[in-house]
Amino acid sequence: MEVIISKTYDELSKAAAKAVAKTVNSKPNAVLGLATGSTPLGLYKELIRMHKEEGLDFSHVATFNLDEYVGLRPSHPQSYHYFMHENLFNHINIAPHNVHIPSATAGNYRAFCESYEKSIAACGGIDLQVLGIGSDGHIGFNEPSSSLGSRTRIKTLTKQTLDDNARFFKDGEKVPIYAITMGVGTILEAREIILLATGAGKAEAVAKAIEGPVTSMNTASALQLHREATFYLDEAAAGKLEMREYFEWIQANKPGGAA
Ligand code: F6R
Repeated sequence: MEVIISKTYDELSKAAAKAVAKTVNSKPNAVLGLATGSTPLGLYKELIRMHKEEGLDFSHVATFNLDEYVGLRPSHPQSYHYFMHENLFNHINIAPHNVHIPSATAGNYRAFCESYEKSIAACGGIDLQVLGIGSDGHIGFNEPSSSLGSRTRIKTLTKQTLDDNARFFKDGEKVPIYAITMGVGTILEAREIILLATGAGKAEAVAKAIEGPVTSMNTASALQLHREATFYLDEAAAGKLEMREYFEWIQANKPGGAA
């Protein structure tokens, strides 16, 4: 597990975008796992810039989003379908048939979740998974107590997540309490994982994920079991790490120079 601490959110976003671009450039038909929320907005902005100014090519890339609120149609401004098109897909040359986002209006959720897993496998598995982290340590919508072996399924969101995400919804509009999410087991099968976190509100969850025990009470801690997981943090999100100096020491003394 690697921990990269950037001075600012902008620097963090650019560092993460370089990791995504490296994957896409080395494998033009790469399969990316993508997250929504406020954290990856800077990453997506930088990927759009790289596409427009540097020719980063997404024409053969496939994507799978982590999650979607149950009951929101793709045209709903708070749906993750809408978010992804507004903030990334409408601005790059990705083929619409290569975009996969859980369907939140599927009649038979169980069958849908199984078919989502099958589609990931049919594309050859996820090469690089992008994650954010909830203030309760969730990845995707794998809330505390989710099985670390879980697969794509419906989850009931915690009150803490509903409160955290209420800021995206209009006054009086209810945050859906169910979501379809890839499981922790699904996420851990990605060949490489990058988790982005910004702000002091994430510092405790981040410290527990990196330095605490592996536990279903902080599902991001499962990344400790992954061979190619990197945390991209800004200073505020790194604020509660006890090993922070060591992580910075590692980055400053990488064999062959920092890369
Ligand atoms: C979203 C997702 C969630 C978010 C997390 C942090 O697709 O999977 O795990 O990454 O809730 O959200 P923000 O970035 O809004 O703080």
